[in-house]
Amino acid sequence: MWSDAIDPADAVSRGEFTASAAATLKSGTHLALFGPRGTGKTTFIGQLTAELALDHGGDAPPWEVIRIDLRRAISPAAFIGAVLDAARNHQSLARRALSEFRRLEKEIGVNLGVVRAGARQRGMHINDTEVLHSQLAALATLSPHLVVAFDEFQRLAHCPGEPLSIIRSALMGPGRAGHLTLLLTGSLRDKLRLMLHTSTEPIWDQTHDLELPDLDPAELADYLELRFAATGKPASHGAIEHLLTLTDCHPKRTQHVAFHVWQAVPEGTTIDPPTVQDAFDALLASGRDNTDFAQIIDTLLSSDDTDVNDAKALFLLAGGASPGSEKDARCYGLPDNRATTRALERLRDRGYVTRTGRAWRIVDPLLAAWLQTQDPLGSERPSAMKSTTHAGNVIDP
Ligand SMILES: Nc1ncnc2c1ncn2[C@@H]1O[C@H](COP(=O)(O)OP(=O)(O)OP(=O)(O)O)[C@@H](O)[C@H]1O
Ligand SMILES: [Mg+2]
Repeated sequence: MWSDAIDPADAVSRGEFTASAAATLKSGTHLALFGPRGTGKTTFIGQLTAELALDHGGDAPPWEVIRIDLRRAISPAAFIGAVLDAARNHQSLARRALSEFRRLEKEIGVNLGVVRAGARQRGMHINDTEVLHSQLAALATLSPHLVVAFDEFQRLAHCPGEPLSIIRSALMGPGRAGHLTLLLTGSLRDKLRLMLHTSTEPIWDQTHDLELPDLDPAELADYLELRFAATGKPASHGAIEHLLTLTDCHPKRTQHVAFHVWQAVPEGTTIDPPTVQDAFDALLASGRDNTDFAQIIDTLLSSDDTDVNDAKALFLLAGGASPGSEKDARCYGLPDNRATTRALERLRDRGYVTRTGRAWRIVDPLLAAWLQTQDPLGSERPSAMKSTTHAGNVIDP
């Protein structure tokens, strides 16, 4: 299935980056890892788990990792549920974790599953932030060398009950040094930065910040070639190259498009570039898996002026226009190029676009291609506009 993390053993290795992140965690430094949606953060946690399990000698024995999926952690009760799920699904620590939790339930006289469900236990008031604290403290005892990975950490920004203070007091005290480190992943750069590097926040300047590097295009190409060949539908070198141009090597979309190409051809066929293009066009036209694109634009266009400008800036970027150009801004209905930049910055905070050096890019290549099919200017685009890849890479002069 292309929609979630994959078995780390099946994934393209991030090589040295994985080894160095593991060494940093084993040295006792907390890590914050930023990567936009679908770039492979969760898969990377799996790769890191395998790396951390290696014995690196005397001062770097094997470490365990427990990954807590915070995507739904909008309340302390939901956070407690996420920790319960992480414990239940853990390969080697599940039994110990559940027995620790049972001990805790007896001690504090509440059932964690009931707290998660938000139900009131007969006649008693449950303080769910206290329960969360005790639960995290119990988690810390599961292994003498433990990385607690909070996946999509920025979600806690919307969770009441001071969850960051609870994490700090339950998991980051002096007694934990050398035994427990945190890995915090996030897909919204600005939110993560505010949560981790604002002096009034409980976890202030405690993390070393990393950005998940892109997959190596040559390795991703080899990986795809092997996968197509292994399933009886080999793909030519050109076909793979074309696929990666369309998806800009975005991990999730590459897998997604590859699956659609694979589905589109009968067994025994060699996949060529036109087959890739046809499958990609069909995927876009079908509206399958991208119904939310229209909704993103409709929501922006039906809100206030700043949101409307955001929608216009997305069209401008996808259309290959230049964010720095006054003329291009006006073509897309923006007052000037400063408004374009402000809109792109807002879109970056919301995870839709990224900027590398002077180049702005729409994160999801399928969204970029869909926006191109909806380009309000269509064939009327200003002639000076630069050519773009499907992913809408545009240089801001
Ligand atoms: N190292 C990799 N090698 C090959 N494919 C990968 C790799 N990492 C991720 N992918 C592909 O990208 C998809 C999404 O990966 P993953 O769920 O790890 O990303 P994510 O950044 O956690 O996404 P989200 O923001 O949706 O949580 C996977 O299903 C897989 O198809
Ligand atoms: Mg993820």
